[in-house]
Parts: sequence; structure tokens; C-alpha cells
Amino acid sequence: METHQTKQRLSTRIANVAESATLAIDAKAKALKAQGVDVIGFGAGEPDFPTPERIAKVAASACLDPKNHRYTPTAGLPELRQAIADKTKRDSGLEVAASQVLVTNGGKHAIFNTFATLIGEGDEVLIPSPYWTTYPEAVRLAGGVPIEVPTTLENGFKVRLAELDRYLTPRTKLFVHVSPSNPTGAVYNREESTELAHWILNNNLWVMSDEIYEHLVYDGNKAWSLPVLEPGLADRAVVVNGVAKTYAMTGWRVGWMIAPEDVISAATNFQSQSTSNVSNIAQRAAIEALQGPLDEVSTMKKAFTRRRALIHRLLNEIPGVNCPLPEGAFYAYASLDGLLKRDYSGIVPTTTSELADVILDQAKVAIVPGEAFGTPGYARFSYAMGEKDIAQGIGRIAELVASSTAS
Ligand SMILES: Cc1ncc(COP(=O)(O)O)c(C=O)c1O
Repeated sequence: METHQTKQRLSTRIANVAESATLAIDAKAKALKAQGVDVIGFGAGEPDFPTPERIAKVAASACLDPKNHRYTPTAGLPELRQAIADKTKRDSGLEVAASQVLVTNGGKHAIFNTFATLIGEGDEVLIPSPYWTTYPEAVRLAGGVPIEVPTTLENGFKVRLAELDRYLTPRTKLFVHVSPSNPTGAVYNREESTELAHWILNNNLWVMSDEIYEHLVYDGNKAWSLPVLEPGLADRAVVVNGVAKTYAMTGWRVGWMIAPEDVISAATNFQSQSTSNVSNIAQRAAIEALQGPLDEVSTMKKAFTRRRALIHRLLNEIPGVNCPLPEGAFYAYASLDGLLKRDYSGIVPTTTSELADVILDQAKVAIVPGEAFGTPGYARFSYAMGEKDIAQGIGRIAELVASSTAS
């Protein structure tokens, strides 16, 4: 007879989930800082600006109103769902009804809900790599199979249409699209986005379009929403978005998914049995965020534009580093191949994961190694930090490299 001792302690599904490497490195850097170590962290995936005061003030007074001390409908406050529909039309041009919106506990939850709702056991999901670390894990949790579609630095980390067909099988169900991309900062232009939308439509796939960085695009680039460019895709498109990056609201946990009504209704049932509604107060704050102007994000964007130029220049000045200019988001994704297999005070890293440890231990700088994004040999540097810190942090890496020797 099976006893509790012979039974597996953790479920296989959960035991196999990898920790979010980006959150782990951030936690490690913050723990060192708490011990008084002067660490410069390039790990954070969040703007360093405070949430605009007008938004925080609405939340503060919402706290004092007993009507906000209650559950809201699972799918979200009707006013917020409408505000999301209105904002989507304003910003991307996609016309949707409020009934096509499900308010979630951040964009990450929207992604989890999307896969849980659409992906069956063994369904394959195409994920261009380097990918945001959550996508493959969330696919696996849904019982699906993540299929990596490699891209290269030379191609600006964008998929090449001619190569996509080879990843198709009868089980392929969905394509994950994110532009601007985390971790690479790549932005698909109108033509590339249109071609991709046609390919997805013609192959009868679904698309999950992650638009969380839509407002952080530089040099006159624009983030295109695939179902806007190819309306035929609207019936098989899920748009994921949230207030986190646009309004510096990562801690408030408000995101959403937009999809055809039957998908939203199924995802809402699922959410009603798992997390129910997002915090009523945070939803009130999100209404204020979305109905107000986009002034704050344009101020942040100006700062990010200067920081982007700085980090791009400083990284490329280090011999052995190759960093393309990011077109969007707030990440630089650099090849560090040239820094491997050198001697750093007796340690010779052969992978970027080992190199990141050396950089943290010896230079007190936290970076996220490419292994976290499916592409060893690279590292992600978030530039959501002041220019002084960027200069000091990259300066420390440059000094460490200069003091290393060929092994
Ligand atoms: C590509 C991408 N999508 C979605 C999210 C989710 O953001 P949140 O759950 O904070 O709304 C993030 C956050 O880092 C991201 O980088």
C-alpha cells in the first residue's frame, strides 16, 4: 500500500517549474544591498520612477471608501474594462468591447490565463528566442510544449519568415509575439508585423500579442498590434497588456487580456475559481492611470532614451562585448562571448551563467545571463536606473575585464 512516505512530495508539474531567473537575480542583488554591499543591479524589469501622484492619490482616497472594500466582478470593474477597451482603441487602434476584456493580476497572470484557456495537453506553442523567461514555463504549466524559434543578433533578434515553416507541426496552436521585446528590445516594423500576421493567419494559428512595452519605442519606431494590421486575425488573437511599465506601476498588479468573448468567458470562469478579482483599490488606480494623459510615460521615455545611448556606448567600448542598439523597452541585450574563458582572479567562466556570478562576486554588479532567456552567451542589462549608476556599473565590468587575463 502506498503511504505518504512513498508518495511523491511535490507534483511533477510544479517540481519542474524553474524559478524566474530575473526575479532571482534581482532578489540576490537586493539581499546583498541589504547587507550593506554596494551592488549595482541591472536585473530589474521595472521603471525606477514612482507611480504618478495623480494615480496614487486616487488609490489613497479609494481606500477610505467602503464600497471599495468588497469583491468586484471577477472580470474586473465595468468602468475599468471599458477604460481598457477605450485605451486600446486610442493607443493601438484595435476596436474591442468591454466584454472582451479580463482584468488580471498583472500581465504575467494574463499570460498564464491565456495558455491555461487555449493550450491543451501536447499543444505546441512557438516562442521566438531569446524569450521572456515566463513564456515557456507558463506553456508547460498548461500542459503544452514550448517550441523555441531561434533568432540572431545579426537579424536584430527578429524571426525570419522564410524559416518559420520548419517549426510547424499538426500540433502547433499558438505563436507568441512581443514587440518591443523583453529581453532584446527588438521592435518589428509595420512590414515585418504585417507579414508575420499573415503567416499566423494563413497557418490557422492563434497569436498571443504581448503589448506591455507598447509606449517604450525609440527613434520614431512604433509598436504594431497584429490584429490591427490583419483584422482576420482578431478572432484568434489574445492581446496582453497592463499598467506596469507605462505608468511605473509594477507593484500594483493590474494587467489584462483581450480576446474573443468565448475565450474571455472561459478565462473568467477559470479566474473565478483561482484568484477572483484583482484588488479593488488597484483597479481604481488603473482607471485613473488609463483615463489620464500619457505625459508621464513620455517623460520616462526621454530619460530611457538618454540611458539607452549611454549603456549602448559603454557596453560596446568593452573589448569582447557586442551590443546592438535596442529599439524599444528598457533592456540592452549584449553578446558576452568574448568575455568567457578568461581568468578572473583564478576563476575561468565558460558560460554566461558562471560569468554573471563572477561579475556579481568580484565587481558587485548584477546582470541576468542569457541562459534565462534561452540564449547562453548573452546577458540582459536593464537600463531602468540613473545615468550615474549605469556609468558606474558598466565601468566596474570594464575594469574587471581589463584586469582579467587570457587563460
Ligand atoms: C514581456 C513581458 N510581458 C509581461 C510582463 C508582465 O508584467 P506584469 O505582470 O508586471 O504586469 C513583463 C514584465 O516583466 C514582461 O517583460
